[in-house]
Amino acid sequence: MKDGQHMAPRHRSSGAVFIVCPYIVNGPHRIIDPQARIEEAKGLADAIQLDIKGSEYFKQHTIRPATFISKGHVEALEGPLKALEIKVVFIDANISPVQQRNLEKAWNCKVIDRTGLILEIFGARARTAEGRLQVELAALTYQRSRLVKSWTHLERQRGGLSTIGGPGETQLELDRRLIDERIGRIKKELEDVKRTRALHRKARKRVPYPIVALVGYTNAGKSTLFNQLTHADVMAEHMLFATLDPTMRRVRLSSGREIILSDTVGFISDLPTLLVAAFRATLEEVIEADLILHVRDISHPETESQSRDVLKVLKDLNLELIYEERGIEVLNKSDLLTKGNAQQLKTHARRATHPSQCVVSALTGEGIQNLLEKINVFLANKEKTYVLTLPLSDGKRIAWLYAHGEVLKREDKENEAVIKVKLSVENKERFELLERLDVEIMQI
Ligand code: GTP
Repeated sequence: MKDGQHMAPRHRSSGAVFIVCPYIVNGPHRIIDPQARIEEAKGLADAIQLDIKGSEYFKQHTIRPATFISKGHVEALEGPLKALEIKVVFIDANISPVQQRNLEKAWNCKVIDRTGLILEIFGARARTAEGRLQVELAALTYQRSRLVKSWTHLERQRGGLSTIGGPGETQLELDRRLIDERIGRIKKELEDVKRTRALHRKARKRVPYPIVALVGYTNAGKSTLFNQLTHADVMAEHMLFATLDPTMRRVRLSSGREIILSDTVGFISDLPTLLVAAFRATLEEVIEADLILHVRDISHPETESQSRDVLKVLKDLNLELIYEERGIEVLNKSDLLTKGNAQQLKTHARRATHPSQCVVSALTGEGIQNLLEKINVFLANKEKTYVLTLPLSDGKRIAWLYAHGEVLKREDKENEAVIKVKLSVENKERFELLERLDVEIMQI
């Protein structure tokens, strides 16, 4: 892992962790397969290296107001939790403060719910100033709601999952008034950060390379694909949320055209509303992208519902139409396909929801050339062809055309080069401006 400070062995100090996955039959679940549900919950716990000692999945018909899960299940778990010396139970659901407290009493250990755990993960992963502030804001809002409803001695003592002083726990001992003050301050800081970011964005808009953004369900393989495309060593971990803030790299396609590739945080279903702003802050790049690559783990049993979750988030962000118009669906992990699910893939391709698809394995590199070609064609289609005549001595400008467009033909005469080139409208304007002003060509 590249980002060493986020390796959090300290979370191991939270002690033995047990995962409880209650499946409420009439509840709004999107993951039906028990194994996939447990895997996802484990993946969340793994994201901050919790020491998982066991897990339990069970069905129940309704939610019990006092403890969320039924009395029978609460009692049945008492023995195993004690025997395994469990210190923290992660319950893969969003439970109320009262339910949390009652479960803690019954099991005599800490209980953390889905929102709480995702907050811990976001807290450990946030890299930009805005990411950190958004996570802290979400954490404080979460704690505030807990304080209002169940401000007891136990609550005062609970603390976060870890003992590290991240946004998950440092504020737990603050009372409501202090939290409100802090929320006010963070909101102000966020305004400042956003203003600066808007300036950065403006500056970047002047960068004459198309932006290609990767989106996808967490663990779909975005970072691996990003590395494969850029040959860069960005984090690729079998961990959920390995990326929280976008990472950008410049990539030169074989046509000579250059693009900026942008990695984003993984999507996850049932993202607590509280966390949407923090998550959104990481998706700014997508809004401005010229092309969106939706990376899917096609070998995953829940691949269809994961895809629906991603599309739903894109819709919430008003990006649905943009994705339809400027998107490629990347069906990743093709190397894991067995004969059985290869058939599934074909079926899927037939009833594809997206007109542009590409099957790849980010791990082995299979299909990557094809994907690059698709990206190239997409960008080329947005461009027009021009024939430009330049003095042969003007090497800089000629090189600029090679980097920013696709040179289709070049004829060198005695003193000049006649270049047939495909350029985006913006780049053509830019080229003319540079020519008129005779200014230095901006490089990034
Ligand atoms: P988040 O940052 O959590 O959103 O994840 P991500 O989408 O960036 O996924 P990442 O690239 O970290 O990959 C997750 C796991 O899948 C890693 O263990 C990768 O090695 C593995 N993986 C990615 N692509 C492939 C692939 O094509 N084939 C196989 N077999 N494994 C892959």
